[in-house]
Amino acid sequence: MTENNPNESNYIPKGKIRINTPPPPIQTAPQASTKYKGVKHTIMVMSGKGGVGKSTFSVNIAVTLARKYRVGLIDADINGPDDPKLLGVSKEKLYTSEGGIIPIDTPYGVRVVSMAFLLPDEKTAVIWRGSLRHKAVQQFLEDTIWDDVDYGILDFPPGTGDEALTVSQLIPQTEGVVIVVTPQELALLDAKKAINFAEQMHIKVIGIVENMSGFACPHCGTITDIFKSGGAESLARELNIPFLGKIPIFPEIVQNGDTGIPAVTVSKEIEKIYNNIAEAMIEQIETRNKQNPS
Ligand SMILES: Nc1ncnc2c1ncn2[C@@H]1O[C@H](COP(=O)(O)OP(=O)(O)O)[C@@H](O)[C@H]1O
Ligand SMILES: [Mg+2]
Repeated sequence: MTENNPNESNYIPKGKIRINTPPPPIQTAPQASTKYKGVKHTIMVMSGKGGVGKSTFSVNIAVTLARKYRVGLIDADINGPDDPKLLGVSKEKLYTSEGGIIPIDTPYGVRVVSMAFLLPDEKTAVIWRGSLRHKAVQQFLEDTIWDDVDYGILDFPPGTGDEALTVSQLIPQTEGVVIVVTPQELALLDAKKAINFAEQMHIKVIGIVENMSGFACPHCGTITDIFKSGGAESLARELNIPFLGKIPIFPEIVQNGDTGIPAVTVSKEIEKIYNNIAEAMIEQIETRNKQNPS
């Protein structure tokens, strides 16, 4: 064993470990895009961790908004693209015309682009490094024909990875982030990281949505807080961020993954919850834009 010598560069001091070297600054931050056109309001859907329901939320909020507005959905989860399956269009393929990539039309009025449309089948894994994923997201934003879209929803992979970084740098004019959390302590802690990411990138937080917030028994109506409940609301209060609403656990939402039929189109109860969240979201955006007209 070599001696731990204080004169050597690999010397490890005994006791508390301190990190003295700050991380290197990002050298090549991309410029804001001049090619992302045609989308009035861009909304990023993020979370601190996976499996909290970002894709489910993105798809159902997109379908909800599409009843009144023109909506585009950008599946920015390049390695785990789920949106086409949730919208029942996973067999479609993307094509380009002279004007660019033609987004896939869905029966719900939402137009969508996703890596899933470029894969030979659902089993194929995309194993791409950050730089390639960055390029793919950039193409979905810049090279797709987004004509007159009122709301563009961006469904991200979990955490604060390359895709979110790409988008926040390419389109600083985004309306901001909706953070999806589940009510467990750990998920709330992870949500704080996503909020911190938004702050560091100077992106506004539109609000927090608590998903899987209790389970209402379909037989007796008793609500069981499987993952606890209400944590996201207190987090929102603590951080002075708007709270947009709670979505309980519903069997119809789980079935959406198999049927490809968004839950808001099969359950009046879920539809109502999503309508309220959509209204709260739009109100936040409109109020802020009135206060700070660009
Ligand atoms: N409110 C809910 N009730 C029941 N199941 C849900 C709910 N929200 C999400 N799920 C289920 O949880 C799983 C993960 O959701 P998903 O949207 O893929 O998460 P993410 O995109 O954050 O990884 C899916 O199987 C989905 O059907
Ligand atoms: Mg997802």
